[in-house]
Amino acid sequence: MSNKIVLKRLYNLILPYRYKFLFAMIAAVVVAGLSATQAWMVKPLLDKIFFEKNSYYLTLLPFALIALFAVKGFFYGLNSYLLEKIGQTVIRDMRTRVFDHIHQQSLSFFHKTPTGELISRVISDINYMQGAISSVVVGLLRDLLQGIFLLIVIFSMNWRLALLSLVFIPAAAVPIIYFGKAFRRVSTRMQEETAEVSNIMHESITGAPVVKAFTMEQFESQRFSSKVQQLFNTMMEKARYRCVQHPLMEVIGGIGMALIIWFGGREVIAGNSTPGTFFAFLASVLMIYEPIKGVSKINATIQQGLAAAVRVFSLLDQEPSILTKEDALELPPFQREIVLKDLEFSYDSNAHVLKNINLTVPAGEILAIVGPSGSGKSTLTSLIPRFFDIEKGSLLIDDLDIRDVTLESLRKQIAIVTQQTILFNDTISNNIAYGSPECSEEELRSAADAAHALGFIEELPDGFETIIGESGVKLSGGERQRLSIARAILKNAPILVLDEATSSLDTESEREVQKALENLMKDRTTLVIAHRLSTIKNADRIIVIKDGMIVEEGTHDDLLQRNGEYETLYNMQFQD
Ligand SMILES: Nc1ncnc2c1ncn2[C@@H]1O[C@H](COP(=O)(O)OP(=O)(O)O)[C@@H](O)[C@H]1O
Ligand SMILES: [Mg+2]
Repeated sequence: MSNKIVLKRLYNLILPYRYKFLFAMIAAVVVAGLSATQAWMVKPLLDKIFFEKNSYYLTLLPFALIALFAVKGFFYGLNSYLLEKIGQTVIRDMRTRVFDHIHQQSLSFFHKTPTGELISRVISDINYMQGAISSVVVGLLRDLLQGIFLLIVIFSMNWRLALLSLVFIPAAAVPIIYFGKAFRRVSTRMQEETAEVSNIMHESITGAPVVKAFTMEQFESQRFSSKVQQLFNTMMEKARYRCVQHPLMEVIGGIGMALIIWFGGREVIAGNSTPGTFFAFLASVLMIYEPIKGVSKINATIQQGLAAAVRVFSLLDQEPSILTKEDALELPPFQREIVLKDLEFSYDSNAHVLKNINLTVPAGEILAIVGPSGSGKSTLTSLIPRFFDIEKGSLLIDDLDIRDVTLESLRKQIAIVTQQTILFNDTISNNIAYGSPECSEEELRSAADAAHALGFIEELPDGFETIIGESGVKLSGGERQRLSIARAILKNAPILVLDEATSSLDTESEREVQKALENLMKDRTTLVIAHRLSTIKNADRIIVIKDGMIVEEGTHDDLLQRNGEYETLYNMQFQD
């Protein structure tokens, strides 16, 4: 992404605030004008007070000076506040936009992007971007204007000296450009390394139980400290550039000043110029020099911000791979059948996970899916809510291709309970009502009851208001699973997917939840990936998947008589 494009996109972010921006700019013009006035005032100060000993000016000038500083201070404050507000507003909107954009992405995006990386984009990169926006507009423009006004002052005083003092401006530009490039390069590396540090943080903290169980604290510590060391080296590289740049600018400024004193002094001695003009001139040049130094200093911030902006924009440029089509229809309430026709699927377009799948699930059926682990059962069920797009063939619900209906209307009709329970660090009631925020207390209770969760919930000190910790760590696996089941019951969707939904339950509670699930399945269409005989016996039909293909199909008794794959599985897995 070129600088021009990044700046243009940053500019577009500021565009909605252009009136505020205009005000800020007017304030900046006032500040810059008053700074130039201050420099210009040195001339009457010296000539009238010191040489002509004029007492009228002696009473006037101090008051004028106070007034000048007060007015300048006010506009300076106004300018900074307005620009800070614009910067912060842009950043607030940007954070929300990036967050929303992340959640627009399909599941495969989350499979390939580490969490820490995303967190560091939203938190730290956007922070750096704010730095760039604020310093570009706060610092750079004000400094630039100030420089221009001061130039007008010095040229009106003595154009030959003014030209001379400009000699060092191009000299100052060289290090500014050189160091700018270096800062940009180092900043990109720094931000990548920050993301890696936050990835290790995230992984090792969420994996704390395993870290402890395998006593890998020291390993994690080393992994972390070597990344932190890398980040340290990068930071120090940046610091070195900064430490060289600043004195270099001082020296360049010093040379410029020396030239002015030499030539200007000669003019005064020769009688071509008054001492007042000379000192006013020197003051102006000193004041021009300040913004130039300022530019070189904030250049680091700007380069860092631009590097961050590139990272944030490129995240925003990633189109979600699964989207609702523009002319998509609403999927009407499910009534007839789900049809999978000649379906093929792979996660990374080489090794096929599912092949040649032909399957019709009529409404109201309970279909059990069995097969060895890794055969593609979960993958098959995850295609129905369109978590991934199929490669070949089609998937129709009531004769509508799922790619032709809105994602929302499709996913509303499907409730899923998986083996991995996903819960939030919130109250039990909010976890159950997740996705059904408008449910009544009565409905919530009866869903919990149907999932056989009411018993343990009521024994908790705060009942439904108990906060269950990150991912529900304060609950047992079985309790967590029952909350997920309650959540699915509450969603009340016509299509139900149970992916080893009762795998973390003990036999006793499984039997109870099984009853709940049977009630749940009654008026629904259910695809159940089963690992227990009781579930399978309940099914209307069983399909056996092996190596991504449907190899057998029928009822339990049919399949047993065939002495095929099912019988082998039955003998190994399903004997109660
Ligand atoms: N997100 C993924 N990316 C790439 N490959 C995957 C992904 N999820 C599963 N797989 C692969 O797809 C195959 C089928 O997995 P899965 O459907 O989970 O099996 P099952 O549920 O039958 O145990 C496995 O070989 C697995 O390695
Ligand atoms: Mg599975």
